[in-house]
Amino acid sequence: MTENGVNKGRRRFLVGATTVVGAVGAVGVAVPFVASWQPSARARAAGAPVPADISKLDEGQQMTIEWRGKPVWLVRRSAEMIEATQQIDASRLADPDSEDPQQPDYVTGPLRSLKPEVGVMVGICTHLGCSPTFRPEPGASDLGENWPGGYFCPCHGSRFDLAGRVFANVPAPTNLEVPPHRYEGDTIIWVGEDEESA
Ligand code: FES
Repeated sequence: MTENGVNKGRRRFLVGATTVVGAVGAVGVAVPFVASWQPSARARAAGAPVPADISKLDEGQQMTIEWRGKPVWLVRRSAEMIEATQQIDASRLADPDSEDPQQPDYVTGPLRSLKPEVGVMVGICTHLGCSPTFRPEPGASDLGENWPGGYFCPCHGSRFDLAGRVFANVPAPTNLEVPPHRYEGDTIIWVGEDEESA
């Protein structure tokens, strides 16, 4: 990924984040709160783990934090979202079982997460680095009636489900990255380290 690609992706992520705030309103509460948790710019640049408080994240909502200069999404999946993701026919996905050995061990199964209801993903398309748009609404008219909810990359049309699994026959070659992460209690997630590395 070129530096330009990263910057382009980051610009789109900022635009996308604004759009989501406008769409769901309450996320606007979560973002400034999370910002106050972030370590110094120098620590972030060095790749320090970043804490995120998801206590105010309602079902169906997503918030974005920054880790190593990249957007990281935290999405609180509802029961309907979990069911819709689990029911996607594996033949529609390029890597339904997340067999990428680069990913943490806990990135398995259809939901690719430590807890079914909370997804944690790097919000950068694995094609050329744009930031996909959060499109949780099943059957969205512009995405087709069998759209289960997920992420749509506006740059070249790649699609991912709500666990970041890439659909087949799109430009993106792999699932979205799940960063190392761990829970501190029920509501704090440390992004950038997990139980093994902490
Ligand atoms: S950068 Fe996402 S589809 Fe090309």
